[in-house]
Amino acid sequence: MQKNIIEVKKISKTYTGDVKAVKNVSFEVKEGEFFGFLGPNGAGKSTTMNMLVNLVKKTSGKILIDGIDLDENPDEIYKRVGFAMQEVGLDEVATAREMLQLHGRLYHMPKADIDEQIKKLLKLVELEKVADKFTSTYSGGMRRRFDLALSLIHKPKILFLDEPTQGLDPHARQLIWGHIKQLNKEGMTIFLTTHFMDEAENLCERIAIMDKGQIVTMGSPEQLKKKHHAKNLEEVFLKTTGSNLGNEEINKNAADPYTRARG
Ligand SMILES: Nc1ncnc2c1ncn2[C@@H]1O[C@H](COP(=O)(O)OP(=O)(O)OP(=O)(O)O)[C@@H](O)[C@H]1O
Ligand SMILES: [Mg+2]
Repeated sequence: MQKNIIEVKKISKTYTGDVKAVKNVSFEVKEGEFFGFLGPNGAGKSTTMNMLVNLVKKTSGKILIDGIDLDENPDEIYKRVGFAMQEVGLDEVATAREMLQLHGRLYHMPKADIDEQIKKLLKLVELEKVADKFTSTYSGGMRRRFDLALSLIHKPKILFLDEPTQGLDPHARQLIWGHIKQLNKEGMTIFLTTHFMDEAENLCERIAIMDKGQIVTMGSPEQLKKKHHAKNLEEVFLKTTGSNLGNEEINKNAADPYTRARG
């Protein structure tokens, strides 16, 4: 029996303006598992993921990562997790190599280890040729790949990826999925959100579907298809989540990305 590397107990997030983004959500992820977190826009996926790595403060509930309580020892958790989040802020006046070095130092890694990891990661994401150019000159796909490299510098046990292939062309997407698959094969736990249903179906061992701040169904792709009498995951998604396109409510505090506070 593998142990639970992520344990989430009844977590909620209410943003200022009384927006209940996540309501009483509980789930577990096993060590080494490839776990997918799906759901329509605004369902609360990013909020949940951000709470797990303490980028967003939860309103209530309990989070244990590798048996460690996030409220008690966040620093021990930072050592174990890597994350590439949806809203990426890249330093515009640094090169990829400089940023990787800086991140390595922030994790107190010995210089030799940092150099070795940088070499390996630049090769992995195929950015060796542009490693000494400013990241501000990168294309969207290069930024995403660089972001993945950055999240891996300290050899985390768990990798959190929020839509890692958003906006990528099919080649770049294949490349990223392939890398993530390989990392998982080597034992890394993967927790990811995506809107690519067929890829989620192929890659994820277990999937949770979220809608309006709650998990509406959870299981392996096979279990989900059977349970919801669907021929594929997309159908499961459509059956279990109510589309509210056009009726989406935008929290006025969240509407302006430049002024909104992560509260
Ligand atoms: N910083 C914030 N302040 C206030 N409200 C927020 C903030 N971030 C998100 N929200 C609100 O919380 C809800 C959930 O948003 P969240 O970003 O978690 O959804 P998501 O499932 O990741 O959606 P998507 O698929 O579009 O990325 C939405 O109603 C959103 O407007
Ligand atoms: Mg999101």
